[in-house]
Amino acid sequence: MKVNNTPYRTIWPASDGWAVEIIDQTKLPHHFETVRLENLTDSIHAIADMLVRGAPLIGATAAWGIALAMHENASDLALQSACEGLYQARPTAVNLRWALDEMRKVLDPLDPSSRREAAYARAMEITDDDVEISSSLGEHGSKLIKNIWEGRRRDSIVNVLTHCNAGWLATVDWGTALAPIYKAHNAGIPVHVWVDETRPRNQGASLTAWELKQHGVPHTLIADNVGGHLMQHGKVDLCITGTDRTTRTGDVCNKIGTYLKALAAHDNNVPFYVALPGTTIDWTLRDGVAEIPIEERDADEVLRIPGMCDDGVVREVLLTAEGVTAANYAFDVTPARLVTGLITERGVCAASESGLSGLYPDLA
Ligand code: MRU
Repeated sequence: MKVNNTPYRTIWPASDGWAVEIIDQTKLPHHFETVRLENLTDSIHAIADMLVRGAPLIGATAAWGIALAMHENASDLALQSACEGLYQARPTAVNLRWALDEMRKVLDPLDPSSRREAAYARAMEITDDDVEISSSLGEHGSKLIKNIWEGRRRDSIVNVLTHCNAGWLATVDWGTALAPIYKAHNAGIPVHVWVDETRPRNQGASLTAWELKQHGVPHTLIADNVGGHLMQHGKVDLCITGTDRTTRTGDVCNKIGTYLKALAAHDNNVPFYVALPGTTIDWTLRDGVAEIPIEERDADEVLRIPGMCDDGVVREVLLTAEGVTAANYAFDVTPARLVTGLITERGVCAASESGLSGLYPDLA
């Protein structure tokens, strides 16, 4: 996608050697800065401190983290410890584990002397594949938007509600939940997006609104509690969110607050779709609520908020009285029964074991 008319991916190999570059998402929306990851430590820091975030991008960054680690030391021990370090960086997105497994499949059988080049090649492949996957997922999802539009007067707008950021910033390009929206918009279908701000880290306000604006997609930022009201008043045609981990039975783990939107959608007969690449399915799990580990982050993310002051400087402020305690659960699980369908790179299916295994018979 383009930033100020220049095409970007969220991660790319540096042109001058063994490093990768990323967009530092902690600086958005006020500053667009890129950062070089030179080694394993940089890669772990980028994932843990959310310079990169979003399940598919976390996976791609982990793959590059292994490639950079192999550049430093390609021994069995170094490979094992790089995988362990990256695996601990963030617990929820299953794409992280998937990418590490993919790297090990290639690297384990090799002599250390040939691991460096092989790791680079596989990380590049994972990165390129992610773009193809998101693009194809977008094509499938855009048909849902087109169908709604075609069932209406041609001058009407399709209103989509989304939560958090599952746009191109959460992947290598295109996005998951936003890919259908970009494809529909590019095809000339009038679409407007209700953007949940997504406290506590405000990925909706800081990232989703920023990238929709860059691409010229009409959107409106709303406080997290507004969606139910909009749905009661017929102002949402469908919801599309992303997911960080989906069980084989179609339970969906996504940014905290997704479950509440799914409940509101269910109560108001608003279709609730979740967009995901196959790499986000955790085939080992059946019960999302019981089995998916939910990341708990620093309470300061709830207690404090950064923003640009009138003097143009970004500062963080305390929202509460000194000493207030806070809990910061980063994700929740939406049971499959509340999900109308799953949008994948292989098509749209029911949020169920038979739906997913029908699309992924080779993985189920
Ligand atoms: O904590 P984050 O920003 O990494 O979480 C990402 C999300 O939860 C997104 O909503 C997204 O749906 C999943 S990644 C495409």
